[in-house]
This record gives sequence, structure tokens and C-alpha cells, in this order.
Amino acid sequence: MLDQKTIDIIKSTVPVLEIHGKEITTRFYNNLFTKHPELLNIFNHANQKKGRQQTALANAVYAAAAHIDKLEAILPAVKQIAQKHRSLGIQPEHYPIVGENLLIAIKEVLGDAATPEILEAWGKAYGVIADAFIGVEREMYEKAEEQHGGWKGFRDFVVDRVEEESSVITSFYLIPADRKSIASYKPGQYISIKFQIEGEEYTHIRQYSLSDAPNEEYYRISVKKESLGDFPGKVSVHLHDHIKEGCMLQVSAPAGEFYLDEESTSSVVLLSGGVGQTPMMSMLNSVIKSKAVRQVTFIHAAIDSTHHAFKDHVQKIASEHDNIKSYVVYEKPLEQDKNQKSFDKEGFVNEEWLRGLALDPKADYYFCGPVPFMKALYRILKNLNIPENQIHFEFFGPAAELSEQDTVNA
Ligand SMILES: Cc1cc2nc3c(=O)[nH]c(=O)nc-3n(C[C@H](O)[C@H](O)[C@H](O)COP(=O)(O)OP(=O)(O)OC[C@H]3O[C@@H](n4cnc5c(N)ncnc54)[C@H](O)[C@@H]3O)c2cc1C
Ligand code: HEM
Repeated sequence: MLDQKTIDIIKSTVPVLEIHGKEITTRFYNNLFTKHPELLNIFNHANQKKGRQQTALANAVYAAAAHIDKLEAILPAVKQIAQKHRSLGIQPEHYPIVGENLLIAIKEVLGDAATPEILEAWGKAYGVIADAFIGVEREMYEKAEEQHGGWKGFRDFVVDRVEEESSVITSFYLIPADRKSIASYKPGQYISIKFQIEGEEYTHIRQYSLSDAPNEEYYRISVKKESLGDFPGKVSVHLHDHIKEGCMLQVSAPAGEFYLDEESTSSVVLLSGGVGQTPMMSMLNSVIKSKAVRQVTFIHAAIDSTHHAFKDHVQKIASEHDNIKSYVVYEKPLEQDKNQKSFDKEGFVNEEWLRGLALDPKADYYFCGPVPFMKALYRILKNLNIPENQIHFEFFGPAAELSEQDTVNA
């Protein structure tokens, strides 16, 4: 346990470090990858370039430091990060490397203001935070391996089937190469897949939400091809262009804290933008599979019908089940979409429209999509007075701040 003096130093220096948060973590990552290039096999290079991971790490370290004398208060955030670490294979021996380079970065950015006393206090505090993560992760590793069909690290899976879901989204059905059983999962969870792409120096690991109801035969992922702009997405383009039936992929056991509470009978509202639909598909399909009678409102926003994955499937489910309602929002509907009246709203999901749906204020709200979509939804749900404990969301990248007063440029 930390002594009071250390706690006081940490708490009084958090605000100063927060101001320099991203500068410190940017410096930290530069140093880290220079000294330990092997870690480039684990970290997502695009998140580094865009600064999202630096911001996420800075926010997490300072949140932990601010709660250093009551870390249990931020346990949910620790668990969410630990799930990602577990799915990536982060080990206890990685922590001292991160700690050492974080302290060096603090010293480099703050200069003389970082006195030996301050650095010592941060060294101790990092040790406490790291131990908390290592402890939570140890339990997660044990569970992942010991559960029925579970395994350690990455396991070989074969692509059993490939199905196009829209002009940009394709599903891959994965079965274990050893044909033995696989771990089940909670609807909303994801897997990590490790790729060794020909011509690439490092491996690339990406997370993909499981997009079908939990089952013991296969995992289905549905991937959007990120091919627009100056920087084509490394893995998603590789998956779309080169991964066919029979290809082998390395997969880690399902992870994540974003999932449907299947024990609950409360109504649920599933809101998604673009490929953010994948965890919602798993949730929707599992409600149907379990024959639960809870009310589900499925709201999906896409650019138009050609970008709209799982359109017929959701429509069919909604027409066959009284407890399922589906709404479609098209940003730029095509002429044919207008003629066929295949959507409920043009443009974006907004507060006025959502109010008009008279959604259950006691429902659990789940959302996922591009960061601007998520920020808008969070604000709307707050305006609708939905309590925080009924709001659940997943980022398809490092976590960002959703509230108004954030300074995060995600
Ligand atoms: C929990 C979770 C679940 C997810 N589930 C899904 C899912 O179900 N389906 C799905 O499709 N995706 C999902 N994702 C996202 C997925 O993990 C990948 O991030 C996504 O496929 C893009 O990876 P990529 O390798 O193709 O792109 P990357 O190469 O990682 O690039 C990502 C983006 O950054 C941009 N970029 C790259 N380099 C630069 C640069 N130098 N400067 C500026 N911009 C740059 C690219 O243009 C691209 O748009 C999920 C992510 C998480 C964290
Ligand atoms: C106490 C120390 C640490 C903290 C506070 C921390 C915090 C974080 C946070 C906030 C994220 C983003 C998670 C998300 O939003 O889903 C993350 C992801 C990650 N962390 Fe850590 N982490 C720590 C230690 C480590 C260590 C020791 C390693 C291994 C070298 C590591 C490797 C990673 C990787 C590879 C990712 C995913 C990055 C990406 O995909 O861009 N972390 N961590």
C-alpha cells in the first residue's frame, strides 16, 4: 500500500500531468518502440498514427492515479482495458517495460519540474496500478483457458464460409482447425485475430465483434473493408481481398465487457451506425435464439441500402416477432430506397426523431458506431434522462471520451 505522502504527491501532480498527457504518452510510445521494436507486433500502428492510443493510455493512467487510494472505484474501466490486454496476450513482464518508459517520458517532458521525489512517487503509483491490472488479467487468462472449449493465447481457425453482407461488409465463418469444441461467448463480445501479412515486417492484431448468436460450432465476424482515403486499412483490406474459404487465421478466446445481459427481462434498444451493427446482430440473434420475450428495438443507420448489411435478415425477424421492432435510417438514400420506402428516416439519428419513437425510459440502451455517431447518441440519451447504468457502448478502437466537455480529438 502507498504511504500518504506518495498519495498526496500523486494527487497534486495529476492535473499538471494531464495538461501534458498526450505529449507524454506520445514521447513514451516513441521511446518504447525504439527500444522494444518487437512490441510493434502487438500494437495497432494506425491507432498510434492517429493518436487515439496515446490519448486512451494517458486518460487511463491519470484516471487511475487520481483514484490511487481507491482503485476499486475504477474497476469497470480497468476490466474493460484488461479484457483487451488479455485478448492481445499482454503479459506481466511487459508492465515494467511500460512503467520505465512512462517515467522517462514524464522526465523528458516536464524537465526540472519532475523532481526526484515526484518521479519516485509516480514509480510507486505505477507499480500499484500495474499490479491491479496484472491481477485482473491473471484471472481473465485463467478463465479463458479453463472454460469449456477454452484455450491459451492464439489458436488456429479455418475459414469455413465467406458471405457478402453489403457492398462493404463481408462475413467470415470460422471453425477451429482441430475441430474440437470452442468457447462460447456473450452476445456483444469480440475476438482478436493475429495476421502475418506477406511483405509486412510485423504481425497485426485486430479485434472483431462476434456477429451471430453464441453457439458452439463457429465464430462469425463481419468486417467492413476500410479502403477509402489515403491509408487503406491493412487488415480489413487483406481479409476482403485475400482471405478465402480454407484459409487459416489465429484467434484468441472471446473477450469484452460490452454484452447483453441475457438474465435480464428489461427491454433493450440496440442502436448502431455502419459496421457498429455487428455486436447488435449477435444480441438480436441471441434474443431470437433463446426465445426471450423481452422487447427489442433495433435502430440501424447506414449510408444507403447498398451499404446496409443484414437488411433482409433483420426485416424478416421483425416481421415474424411481435417483440422486435426495427427502424432504418439512411444518410443518403438512393432513388430506389425512396421508391421502395425501405427506410424510416433520412439523414442522421437525432433527438427529435428518437423522442418520437417513445422508447422505454427503463430500457437498456446499447450503441456502437463511428465516434461522432456515438458522441451524438450519448448526448441524446443524456437529454432523454436515461440513467448512466442503462447506457452501454463499445468503441471499435481505443476508448475515447463521449461527454461534451471532452478535449479528446478522436
Ligand atoms: C472491440 C472491437 C470490435 C470491433 N469489431 C469490428 C467488427 O465487427 N467489424 C469491423 O469491420 N471492424 C471491427 N473493429 C475494428 C477493427 O478492429 C479494425 O480496426 C478495422 O477492421 C480496421 O483495421 P485495418 O487494419 O483494416 O485498418 P488500419 O490499418 O488499422 O487503419 C485504420 C484506419 O486508420 C486509417 N489510417 C491508417 N494509417 C493512417 C495514418 N498514417 N494516418 C491517418 N489515418 C490512418 C485508415 O485509413 C483506416 O481508416 C472492432 C474494433 C474493436 C476494438
Ligand atoms: C498500467 C498500465 C497500462 C495501462 C493504464 C494501459 C491502458 C490501456 C488502454 C486505456 C488501452 C485502450 C483500451 C481500449 O480502449 O479498449 C490499452 C490498450 C492496449 N494496451 Fe495497455 N495499458 C497498460 C499497460 C500495457 C502494457 C504493459 C502493454 C504491453 C506492452 C500494453 C499494451 C496494450 C496494447 C497493445 C493495447 C491495444 C492498442 C491498440 O490496439 O491500439 N498495455 N491499454
